[in-house]
Formats: sequence, structure tokens, C-alpha cells
Amino acid sequence: MAREFTSVGVVGLGTMGAGIVEVFARNGVDVVAVEISEGALERGRATLTGSTDRAVAKGKLAEADRDALLSRVHWQVGLDALHSVDLVIEAVPEHLDLKQRIFAELDRVCKPEAILATNTSSLSVTEISVATSRPNQVIGIHFFNPAPVMKLVEVVRTVVTSADVVADVEALCDRLGKVDVTINDRAGFIANALLFGYLNHAVGMFESHYASREDIDAAMKLGCGLPMGPLALMDLIGLDTAYEILDTMYRRGGRDRRHAPVPLIKQMVTAGLLGRKSGRGFYTYERPGSPKVVPDERTPVAAEPALADGARAIAKVGVVGSGTMATGIIEVFAKAGYEVVSVTRGAEKSAKVCEAVKTSLNKGVVRGKLSEDDRDAALGRVNWSATLEHLADVDLVVEAVVEELSVKKALFASLDEICKPGVVLATTTSSLPVIDVAMATQRPADVVGLHFFNPAPVMPLVEIVQTIRTSAETTATARAVCAALGKTGVVCGDRSGFVVNALLFPYLNDAVKMLEASYSTADDIDYAMKLGCGYPMGPFELLDVVGLDVSLAIQRELYLELREPGFAPAPLLEHLVTAGYLGRKSGRGFRDHTRR
Ligand SMILES: NC(=O)c1ccc[n+]([C@@H]2O[C@H](COP(=O)([O-])OP(=O)(O)OC[C@H]3O[C@@H](n4cnc5c(N)ncnc54)[C@H](O)[C@@H]3O)[C@@H](O)[C@H]2O)c1
Repeated sequence: MAREFTSVGVVGLGTMGAGIVEVFARNGVDVVAVEISEGALERGRATLTGSTDRAVAKGKLAEADRDALLSRVHWQVGLDALHSVDLVIEAVPEHLDLKQRIFAELDRVCKPEAILATNTSSLSVTEISVATSRPNQVIGIHFFNPAPVMKLVEVVRTVVTSADVVADVEALCDRLGKVDVTINDRAGFIANALLFGYLNHAVGMFESHYASREDIDAAMKLGCGLPMGPLALMDLIGLDTAYEILDTMYRRGGRDRRHAPVPLIKQMVTAGLLGRKSGRGFYTYERPGSPKVVPDERTPVAAEPALADGARAIAKVGVVGSGTMATGIIEVFAKAGYEVVSVTRGAEKSAKVCEAVKTSLNKGVVRGKLSEDDRDAALGRVNWSATLEHLADVDLVVEAVVEELSVKKALFASLDEICKPGVVLATTTSSLPVIDVAMATQRPADVVGLHFFNPAPVMPLVEIVQTIRTSAETTATARAVCAALGKTGVVCGDRSGFVVNALLFPYLNDAVKMLEASYSTADDIDYAMKLGCGYPMGPFELLDVVGLDVSLAIQRELYLELREPGFAPAPLLEHLVTAGYLGRKSGRGFRDHTRR
């Protein structure tokens, strides 16, 4: 018979604790909510009231249910109030000595059969458990932020946690409407082990002025469909908590440099910039605890497409290439009202590209997104050519030919001869250094990367890659063009992977390493990222869609350029590619797609 949990205790009512109280009280469980002082108790109570009031205002919770929910919570200072609860969840700051002290005290106060759980993100549950006389009844119950919203709970068993305690906690998660994954006690468990290297890397990009906070966050939201960007997420987690998690993961997780907290994080914590909870972190919030971002001195001035910065007027655009990207880019420019010259290597290829653009535009018409007149007008704006000389009078060239440096360099050398002065020359490369292409011309200041995402007509993001020779006018022009296309242009430096791939692929590679180490299964890892972090796809789903060969190639480039040991491609990824398991396109990758 599964254990009945009629009353639980929550210790620490900060970012996580207050949310955990809500989860239990919403599901009919009585909660004793404990803090260290009256003031802290009041803050916890205000968080719960604020959250439930918002739920009522949004029509997600009836007033009577809110009142019933609130009446189930008993607010107390000090641990003594926990003498008769069936389960305690501790959510105090991420310090081992503090947690050990609290567990020793809980062991003294709580009834002998009570289960003692920690919400730690990175500390050893085992080390916490040995501070009690009942380590077999100690377990990790790791909720995700915000606890009332995120579906996932990681249930962490130590080598001594009894099997019935694990089973009872799993049943409880079910009752709370959560999806649980049960795992062993390892730093960062599943989700944080995959998340925090990425967050730290993103902070590093911001610290080194590689890209602005808005651009880093927009890149990951729009390029990967994440619910929030990494810096906004750091603010939500709390920079003090994030610092402790990184620091613990660094020390417990094999001293991986990628977990050594970027110095800026510590500086911000020292300066009291803790994120949402203190009203200021990477962004500024309306008031402490508020989710609403308000403008501050870093907020970009709502840029009227940057004409003031010297952006050049663009009316006529050349697109070179005949593949998927070139086709999509021709469509994007033509639909936005630009006159387009498409250049391919022959009439046959031009006919194919023309057909592909037509088919895509027709789909828009069928779906009611485009009128027939607009389709015809867009097609009418495109001139089809097989001669580079036809680019003599365009204002912008977008190159989207094969991803080979020698081919691109030769093309840019020709463009340099043919194009009029002042033209912006853009490459869509996703992995080659833009500066190499720029130096094939006599006008590197006019060369920029315009990294569109596939499919170009759909994806809202373009990475604007500035080399050390790109002029401010060229960047301003690229920004203005992206805005005119209805895309979000994010400006970044000329480094392998730009923003999105540099942040995305090491995380995917880490997931493969985790699988390879048999810590968890592909299904549970995918669940953890989708239900714990709100990702649209889990890492293995995404790898199978992107293609394992493509992923491996990108990861190799990142490793070769940055020489970061943690970026070394996972051997399992290499083996799968060698075996021809490339993902959906070959019928098998991490999963077998032929049987679905
Ligand atoms: N922030 C996140 O996104 C997140 C997500 C999952 C898990 N966690 C984990 O949850 C735990 C809490 O993190 P947080 O972000 O909520 O921290 P927080 O700083 O927001 O809140 C901690 C609370 O604990 C209280 N506290 C401190 N000492 C106490 C004591 N002796 N007795 C009672 N209360 C005490 C503090 O007053 C504060 O209100 C940590 O272990 C963290 O790793 C955090």
C-alpha cells in the first residue's frame, strides 16, 4: 500500500519553495510552510497570494478554489512546526553545510516515518542524507522553476534510499499531476547537467561583448523555439542560486571548465543584482519579484531601421545559388518588395529554382497567407540569370552556394570585380569564417554574414555576422534589411557557430555523452528538457531531425576553433554517423524511424 501524504512541510519559501507550496496546496494537501524569519515568511506568503491571484484573474482558478488552497497553508517560523508532517521538502539556498544542518534538525523534529526530501539542484543528496539518522528515507525531489507550471520532477535516489520511499514519492508526483523521472545522485541530475553549461556559455558571450543581451536571448528564442533566452532564464533562476549550482557542478562534475562560473556572475551577485527576485539582473524589472522587464540604460533605442547609423538604401538584391537556402531567400526578398536577381550556374538550375519558389508561394496562397496578386507581384520582381555580370547594378548580394571555402572565395573575388562600389556583399555560411570570404575581395568593410535559418521564409531569425573588418554602415544596412524583411536580426562576432549553433550543439553533444554514460535513457532525457525546461523538442528528437552527420560536423568545427575539451564530439555520435545512422533522413538515428 502506497504511503498517504496528507500533510507536507516546505522549508524555505523563496523562488522555489513558494511555488512548491502552491503545487501541494492546489492538489488538496495540507502544507506547513516554514521560513527563517517573519519577514521571509511574509515574502513567501506574498508570492503565493500574487501567483494565485494572477491565476484567478486569468480565469485558471476559481475564487473559491483559491480560498480553499490558501486555507490549506499554515505559515510558521522555525522547523519545530514540522513535527507531524508526512514529508518535508527543503528549498533553502544551495549550500551543503546549511542543508546538512537543516536535515539534522529535521531528523530530530520530524516523526520517525516522515520522508525528508531536498529540492537541491546540484548538491549530493547522499551527503545531505548522512546528516540524518534515516538516510534511507532521504530523497531528492527536484522541481523546476516555476514549480506550478513546469511538469517535470526529477526524483533522485541515493544508494541507500529505500525502494518503497522511491515508489511512494513517484506515486505522489503522479497525484500532483507531474511527470517524474527517477535517476541516481549525480551533479545536476539530467536537466541542469545539460542546461548550466549552456547558460554559463551564454553569460560568457555577453561578458565578452560578443553579442548584446537582447540579441543572445532573441537568437535562442527565435532560432531554437525556446520559451526564454538564456540571460532571461538566469534572471528567473536567480544569479546567486545559478552561481552556487555552477560552482557545485564544477567541483562535483569533474571540473569541467564550462561549469566554472563566468566571473561576471559573481560580480553581479556581490552587487546585489540577483535577477527577478531583486528587481535587477541581466535585465531590469518593474519591481523585485515582478516578471515585467522595464527599459534601462542598456535597452536599445527602438531603432528606426538605423538610417541614422549610415545604413545604405537597398532596392535591388542579387541572390547567388540554387539550393534550399537560396530558394528560400529569393522568396523572402521578393515577397518583401525587393527587386531580385537570381544567379545560378545554368538555365536548367534557374528553371528548377523558379519552380521551387513558385511552389512555395502557391502554398502560401492555398493556406490563405498570400493573395494571388501578391504571389504574381513577388514572382514578377525576380529576374532569372546564369550570369554573374547581371549583378553589376544590385545594392546587396546574398551568396548561398555550396559550403566550401574555395568556392565561396572564388565567387567573392568575382563579385568584387563585377559589383558597383558601396554594395553590401553577404554570405549565408553557417560554419566558415566570414573574414576568409571578405579577404577574397578588395572591400572587406562591405562584407558581412547574413545567416538565415532553414526554412528561410518561416524562420524569424537572421544572424548578422560582423568581422573585424566589417564597417558600421554595412552592419547598419544588414540590420535595416532584416527589419524590412520582417526578421529579427541579431548581431554577433565572427566565431564558429555564431550565437545559436555555438550554444545549441555543445548541449546536444552533452546529451549524447549522458546517454553514452548510461545515466539515463533517450526518452527520459528528452522528457526532462521538454517538461523541465519547456524546450519544443528533446535533444535526441532534435538530433534526429537535424541529422547526426550535420551535428557532428558543427560540433567538430566548434571544437577545432575553440579547443574546449568539453566540446570534443561524443564518441557515440561519431560511431552512429560512421554506422550510417544519420537520423530521420536515413531512417535511423537515435531512434528507429522506419517503424513509426
Ligand atoms: N531557482 C531555481 O530555478 C531552482 C530550480 C530548482 C531547484 N532549485 C533549488 O531550490 C533550492 C532553493 O533555491 P531558490 O532559488 O528557491 O533560493 P532562494 O534564495 O530564492 O530562496 C531560499 C529561501 O530559503 C530561506 N532560508 C534560508 N535559510 C533558511 C532556514 N534555515 N530555514 C528556513 N528557510 C531558510 C530564505 O529565507 C529564502 O527565502 C536550492 O537548493 C536550489 O538549488 C532552484
